Amino acid sequence: MRVDIVTIFPQFFDVLDISLLGKARANGIVDLRVHDLRDATHDRHRTVDDTPYGGGAGMVMKPEPWGETLDGILGDAGTETTIAPGASAPLIVFPSPAGDVFTQQTARRYAQEEHIVFGCGRYEGIDQRVFDWAATRARVELVSMGDYVLNGGEVAVMAMIEAFGRLIPGVVGNPESLVEESHEGGLLEYPSYTKPAQWRSYEVPEILLSGHHANIEKWRHEQQVERTKRVRPDLYEQWVESQA
Ligand code: ADE
Repeated sequence: MRVDIVTIFPQFFDVLDISLLGKARANGIVDLRVHDLRDATHDRHRTVDDTPYGGGAGMVMKPEPWGETLDGILGDAGTETTIAPGASAPLIVFPSPAGDVFTQQTARRYAQEEHIVFGCGRYEGIDQRVFDWAATRARVELVSMGDYVLNGGEVAVMAMIEAFGRLIPGVVGNPESLVEESHEGGLLEYPSYTKPAQWRSYEVPEILLSGHHANIEKWRHEQQVERTKRVRPDLYEQWVESQA
């Protein structure tokens, strides 16, 4: 899988090499390339932003450096081609509080992609024409990490990579560990315990020491249902409906 990241803070992504994805990169499972947007500027100050037309607070990212950088990534620099419906084109993801919310389902979908490009915006956003043009060359998605505002897309991209990277076949050593966790199967995960059986004044629930696998499984499922109902009534309702 190929992943390109466009950012004005390329060093931000250095830490990916010490994460799970670092190994996937070393093993050749993921071809990750980070691009400095300022490399596609041609003035002394390496300017990537300007004041908004129509006025207003903040700065807007200029279209030219985005166009030049994306041309380089997508190839065939400068030629606009319309992507036929259903044809396989790279996916360009722009993190934005104005996008669809990223979920485990999004992560599963991204893990299946051949080529994803992440465009990290800063300031008040990117000139709208970048999105409009990019949509003629690729599939474009605006994706939000939740109902809060970040200073830029970098942290959002890091979270997305962390979420889908571990779902790429061969990246996580034990694929079974992916099946039992929160958001897979529609419920939050059950509480976990390890040795010692007694710690401070706390004991491990007796059932987990019983060795009775069917009962343990039943208990864990009940814990998942109870926890989801209490913490995330919205997910609980969805899960109940999915069981009907
Ligand atoms: N950029 C700024 N805020 C964001 C958010 N909530 N999600 C994704 N990208 C963002």
